[in-house]
Amino acid sequence: MLNIILLGPPGAGKGTQAARLQAERGMIQLSTGDMLREAVAAGTPVGLKAKAVMERGELVSDAIVSALIGERLDASADKGAIFDGFPRTKHQAAALEILLAQRGRRLDHVIELVVDEDELVRRIVGRFTCAKCGAPYHDHFRLPAVPGVCDVCGSTKFKRRPDDNEETVRTRMAEYRAKTAPILPYYEDKGLVRRVDGMASVDEVAAQIDAIVDGKA
Ligand code: AP5
Ligand code: MG
Repeated sequence: MLNIILLGPPGAGKGTQAARLQAERGMIQLSTGDMLREAVAAGTPVGLKAKAVMERGELVSDAIVSALIGERLDASADKGAIFDGFPRTKHQAAALEILLAQRGRRLDHVIELVVDEDELVRRIVGRFTCAKCGAPYHDHFRLPAVPGVCDVCGSTKFKRRPDDNEETVRTRMAEYRAKTAPILPYYEDKGLVRRVDGMASVDEVAAQIDAIVDGKA
């Protein structure tokens, strides 16, 4: 039962790869971004606090996201967890360590997806998803096989994230550089960091991650 973190800047491909690992291996994708967007859509107290912060591209408070992960962690107990977009600060990294230790679990790998900044902007600004099943698409790299119809569930409704515009993306990247990248040395000291070339195609990135997860790289 593996516990892995996918770490990387906005648009690096964390969600794409986490969803694939969940579908192919039955591991559980724990995405704080998705949890927060669900809370915003449902209008919960957490959602009300998070909405404006997310629209500005800033980080939501450590206490809120750590609590969200704590609530969902047990669901991944048998199958393994893929942490997508968490932890994002040193405080969150410490919180995760405690949450795992309390359950007799530990981290196996921190997989860093490395991608150039210009490529990140291109990816994010073109991104859209199926409004029904969440399957990810892109205006240039990944259109549905039949235009306007989701490959996975057949829905004809799609949506774009309110924080996927160039200005907000720049703020999200600045937040990554200032607050998230500094947690890498913490994991490097523990010998957990594995780097993957996130500029490669989705399938090539998947193969690099699979090799790590299968203990072959
Ligand atoms: P979150 O939802 O986590 O967004 P993010 O980190 O900005 O990352 P993205 O989801 O934009 O990118 P991704 O790496 O998942 O890439 P994807 O696979 O979609 O967070 C959103 C907000 O919530 C934050 O700004 C913050 O406010 C808040 N938040 C969330 N977690 C928090 C936390 N822990 N603490 C505090 N605040 C938190 O890929 C992007 C696009 O590229 C897609 O179109 C995809 O199809 C395409 N693509 C993917 N891989 C490839 C490839 N190899 N080649 C070509 N295209 C590709
Ligand atoms: Mg994502």
